[in-house]
Amino acid sequence: MARQMVMVGFLQAQNCTNLPASWRHPDSRTDFLSADFYREIAHVLERGKFHLAFFDDRLAMPDRYGGDHVHTVEYGIRCVKLDPIVTLMTMGMATTRLGLGATCSTTYYEPFHVARMFATIDLMTGGRAAWNVVTSLNDGEAMNMGRDGVLEHDLRYDRADEFMEVVLGQWDSWEDDALIVDKASGRFADGARVHRLDHVGPYFRSRGPFTVPRSAQGHPVVIQAGQSGRGRRFAGRWGEVIFVTSGSIGMGKRNYATLKEEAVACGRDPDRMLLCNLVTPVCAATKAEAEDKMALIQRLPLEIDQLSLLAEALNFDFATKGLDEELTDAELASFSGIQTIRDRVLALSGKRNPTVREFMQLSHRGRPDDAIVGDPKGVADRLEEMFTEHVCDGFVVAATHVPGGYADFVEFVVPELQRRGLYHTDYTGATLRENLGLPRPELGAWRHAVPTSV
Ligand SMILES: Cc1cc2nc3c(=O)[nH]c(=O)nc-3n(C[C@H](O)[C@H](O)[C@H](O)COP(=O)(O)O)c2cc1C
Repeated sequence: MARQMVMVGFLQAQNCTNLPASWRHPDSRTDFLSADFYREIAHVLERGKFHLAFFDDRLAMPDRYGGDHVHTVEYGIRCVKLDPIVTLMTMGMATTRLGLGATCSTTYYEPFHVARMFATIDLMTGGRAAWNVVTSLNDGEAMNMGRDGVLEHDLRYDRADEFMEVVLGQWDSWEDDALIVDKASGRFADGARVHRLDHVGPYFRSRGPFTVPRSAQGHPVVIQAGQSGRGRRFAGRWGEVIFVTSGSIGMGKRNYATLKEEAVACGRDPDRMLLCNLVTPVCAATKAEAEDKMALIQRLPLEIDQLSLLAEALNFDFATKGLDEELTDAELASFSGIQTIRDRVLALSGKRNPTVREFMQLSHRGRPDDAIVGDPKGVADRLEEMFTEHVCDGFVVAATHVPGGYADFVEFVVPELQRRGLYHTDYTGATLRENLGLPRPELGAWRHAVPTSV
């Protein structure tokens, strides 16, 4: 069968999408504290045959700017953050085929706890769960979780490698036929087929045996989005669905090849790693209507949205600088969050010391400037090009507002992609892995994925 696109909805269990201004959009639903809000999004995505709905997460509101939360709550800058896993279950109970992913940090939880939560979601949804593995990035999260500050970038990934060994090790505890449940003989399970992990490592200890048997898809799908050198090595070792942010075709193709090479270097089959590029579509029946929609959306963001989100993502207080003041070498070196944002701004500006305003203009953080605006043909053409040029295997679709951003995509773009044979017309399986074309993992398969060079 011809290769087909993977589609992922980039969701937030909060008052706005990843565009903070979205809550001010005239068509945004404002009942984001109700289960019905999330159920409607789930129904829209399942109608559009999305493979996966995934919630991002951060363990703090963005209060790094000025060291204060007042602006965050006044302007509604991603200040409400519900627990994504609990929220995800409301969507799971409202759907039958949509895959269900949530973010959980390797820095602030115990691996046993994370393994049990996601294995349970996987059982409760009939094998549709996925875990977005993040290492967390700012001091607000650290302070909410009992630490003084964020751990150093690469150290977070070193810990995360061991975290994965524990989670996957625990997920392997129960062999598939371990459960017997025979009332006549009185045998509940085969003691020889349930194993103890006995993990003792530099960062974690976890004994086992695990308390949750395997699910229909074996274990949850692992999502990752590392972009730095260390992050990509981690993604190449563990990620089954990888989020990427490739602006241009040339850069995207190089990034795609590099990530697939990381998987090969770990002894993995690169076809079992699906890269999804972040896109924000703004679509309508005609190009003119789409441009009108975009004009409205472009009027919504405020300067403070950008400053606050940049401070959050880079873990640096931009309020200490004037807008047209240059960032010093020492300040740039101190950014401990998403370093690729800094590196891209440096590359695009061609300057060693860009100003705060240049960070705002060139990162587009908190603004929808890089949205794909068009009629069904126009948007589908752009997605088709990225897909056929091997920038990605699919898309992680962000919304300018909900549920309208997704409803428009499903109404206008999905049928066009299906007509072109680029996107499935229905779910082919019951589990997320079946729908993604990923095989059910053998017990211990992940142990073969060991980097040949570090
Ligand atoms: C589509 C997408 C979703 C992401 N979701 C989250 C998230 O929910 N929480 C988080 O802390 N980081 C999230 N990240 C950040 C990544 O996990 C990663 O930290 C970032 O891409 C920088 O790479 P690095 O960690 O290798 O520096 C996301 C990134 C992308 C591209």
